[in-house]
Amino acid sequence: MTSFFARKPISALIAEEGHPNSLKRSLSALDLVMLAIGAVIGAGIFGSIGSAAAGQVGPTGEVIRVGAGPALVVSFILLGVCCALAGLCYAELASMIPQAGSAYAYSYATLGEVVAWIIGWDLILEYAVGNVAVAISWGDYFKSLLGGWVDFPAWATTGYRTALLSQDPAVHGLIATAPRIAGIPIVINIPAFAIVALITGLLLMGARESARANNVMVAVKLIVLALFIVMGLQHINPANYHPFAPNGFKGIHQGAAIVFFAYIGFDAISTAAEETKNPQRNLPIGILGGLAICTVIYVIIGAVLTGMVPSSELGKQADPLAYALNATGLTSIAKVVALGAVFSMSAVLLVFQYGQPRIFFAMARDGLLPQWAAKVSKKARVPWATTLLSGLFVALWALIGDANETYDLTNIGTLFAFALVCIGVIVLRHTDPDRPRPFRVPFVHAVGIAGAALCVVVMWGLPGLAWRRFGVWLAAGLVLYVVYGWRHSTLRRAGAGGAVRR
Ligand code: ALA
Repeated sequence: MTSFFARKPISALIAEEGHPNSLKRSLSALDLVMLAIGAVIGAGIFGSIGSAAAGQVGPTGEVIRVGAGPALVVSFILLGVCCALAGLCYAELASMIPQAGSAYAYSYATLGEVVAWIIGWDLILEYAVGNVAVAISWGDYFKSLLGGWVDFPAWATTGYRTALLSQDPAVHGLIATAPRIAGIPIVINIPAFAIVALITGLLLMGARESARANNVMVAVKLIVLALFIVMGLQHINPANYHPFAPNGFKGIHQGAAIVFFAYIGFDAISTAAEETKNPQRNLPIGILGGLAICTVIYVIIGAVLTGMVPSSELGKQADPLAYALNATGLTSIAKVVALGAVFSMSAVLLVFQYGQPRIFFAMARDGLLPQWAAKVSKKARVPWATTLLSGLFVALWALIGDANETYDLTNIGTLFAFALVCIGVIVLRHTDPDRPRPFRVPFVHAVGIAGAALCVVVMWGLPGLAWRRFGVWLAAGLVLYVVYGWRHSTLRRAGAGGAVRR
């Protein structure tokens, strides 16, 4: 039993730097802030904000969640506090364990192997499954951007799951009208598939090139959001702010639980720790700086959007920001914003497709996944096998999947990982008090406990179905650990002391 909870010494983690499979250090603090913004502002603010403001009703008319209304800004502030607390904890761990693998690597050092495995498995929900939703949302905006100029057949731009779950007869009807191969209806999302394939190719070319591309995409996204704010401010109708919180705290809470998706990603840059120059200084700047900028932007966008149109109108819109602009007569600005959304979500896809392979890579290097997954290309020093695997997984799911189905699952998995990181930082202060901490969380006990508690509170706002699916996912992961990881763990093979590395 104790070997389940064997911890990997931090000295062994840091010693991995010289390992032949280690990665190249090339990212600066500014690159990290840009990576954070690149990861954070995407489908959450462009897509899920509509359901958060208006609520959501299921295919049979059941209420899945109630909306926050204009009080959405309160949801954003709550989430900003929650993520800042978790972000502080991430920053301490990331700066003292500057290693690929994010929460996975930290929990290996703090809470033991089985918890680390669970987190690694859980992070697939955040990175890969989250990216399925982003890719599908990207496809929706891409379609509306080109709308009027190029008309794609609906069967080639809609995932099978979306058609199956839709209440709209035109969309649901695709299953009957789509072309068939061997009797199977072809209802697929080719744009979502294609963008993931393209991003995967970019990542295979190397981290430095990808960070540069990300910087350009982030600049475009900030300009477009500023345009939305400036134009939207001129079309505020104060009547839309009444009632401010139509469903009281319940609406604020359940709205926060879905729009949490908009915050996911600031932690993703900790997966780049092993490729960061001077990580002790640059990681905390990247994580907290990126988070602060995004929170301010969200609060302003939330306030402007819910002032432009009645919140209740936002629920059915796949593109709520463009909808609000169109509804107030700003149609050409709506096109520009759709273009910005396409850029923004490309940046999100890039960062998550960058992060996921590095988590698989770290797990494979520890023996918890097969060794072929730890291969790094000679020239670009990229974990190519896991980059390719992650690309295939996301692209194929996005080809047939539904965005809404994946938001909640991603959120619950990510909040769980955040909570464990908050606890992990406290545990490590006790188990390894003398290790240098280039960045120390102030009032660590209060911050860690409050951070973990807030994450659980936000999780509580998610629908029951998300909890059940999450339970199944964790159970499947545990089975896999017992069948494979437990037997092949490098740490266990070297003895629980684990200081001896391959
Ligand atoms: N925060 C990212 C987004 O909103 C995942 O797309």
